[in-house]
Amino acid sequence: MGVPFIDIKRFEPGFLEAWNAKVAEMSKNAQFIGGAEVATLEKRLSEYTGTALTVSCANGTDALQLALRAVGVGAGDNVLLPDSTFWATFEAVVNVGANPYTIDSNMSDLQMDFDAFAKAIDEVKPKAAMIVHLYGWGSSRLADYRALCKQKGVVLIEDGAQSFGVKYKGDAIYKGCEIATTSFYPAKVLGAAGDGGAVFVNDQALADKVRMLANHGRTTHYGHGAVGWNSRMDSLQAAFVNLSLDHFEARLKSRQEWAARYHKDLKAIGVNDITPPADYIENGYCNVTLFENSKRTKLEAILKEKGIGFGNIYPGAMSDQPGAKEFLKKRFGANNAQQVSSTVLNFPLFPYMTETEYKEILTIVESFVSGKN
Ligand SMILES: Cc1ncc(COP(=O)(O)O)c(C=O)c1O
Repeated sequence: MGVPFIDIKRFEPGFLEAWNAKVAEMSKNAQFIGGAEVATLEKRLSEYTGTALTVSCANGTDALQLALRAVGVGAGDNVLLPDSTFWATFEAVVNVGANPYTIDSNMSDLQMDFDAFAKAIDEVKPKAAMIVHLYGWGSSRLADYRALCKQKGVVLIEDGAQSFGVKYKGDAIYKGCEIATTSFYPAKVLGAAGDGGAVFVNDQALADKVRMLANHGRTTHYGHGAVGWNSRMDSLQAAFVNLSLDHFEARLKSRQEWAARYHKDLKAIGVNDITPPADYIENGYCNVTLFENSKRTKLEAILKEKGIGFGNIYPGAMSDQPGAKEFLKKRFGANNAQQVSSTVLNFPLFPYMTETEYKEILTIVESFVSGKN
């Protein structure tokens, strides 16, 4: 039968009808920029994340660039970021003119390594640092990262593109942030009908700065207090995310149930399935396993043949990307990010995956690990 790596077309009954009606109504009124849908979405996102203020924007990469610019990072400033992340985190640092320094991963939670990070802070005195909540959970040392950055006067920007719906110590992971971002890329846990993003803050002046930068540095319609750009989220995207929020708990629950099944069943057959650290409730963004490299190659060939989608999140560390050479100042830590890249394998995980699909995947993996295939 085959199972896709991700299927984002499994909408709830009535969802597409509601969306089509919304598009018709908003088109009739030519409500395309700003307006009630954007304002409502920002309010709902703040309520959900436990942050005081939300500024929506065009995508998750812009959200990072807006955050960096808003906290004053610019040409020549040093910024730390994890070596294991999506390229956008690295790009954002370079795009604002700052110097990127990568920090290795920790093999226990596959997030950024705290000790390497602390060493880098002392050595390069960064203006800001990015932490990425990867895979649908976050670092076991998140509270330590926040405390250390505060103590050292380093602004910690939290890239939460993958962590909408994650709970840390009982609250939304974004709650204790100074400034955090997310992405509404359609494959994310909360996705748009195209691109979208948001910045979460707790300080009015910082929110105002983000909003100004995302709207051409405007102070009045034709008055520009800063050089920003156009990174507004359009109203149709906001409407789609609002409708998606109505179904968010059900989608999240479905993802979490499949994530839990994988943990239980994969561990039982001896697969190195990675579970989130204590203090976290994951959002089921993805399933993460590690296979010895040559075994991974063999299993991937079988999965391909059987039509089972899979991922390698991520197949290469930032410091090894050809595009990083010109900009990377230094990497801190060992080679764990490389180790993860060469061994990570993600099985299909998306809301409303079926029992039949799950069993098909598990049977193939089980047969492979038991040497039957
Ligand atoms: C960790 C991380 N940061 C940033 C981004 C960029 O978000 P977007 O694709 O909305 O620009 C993504 C998503 O693709 C991501 O996974």
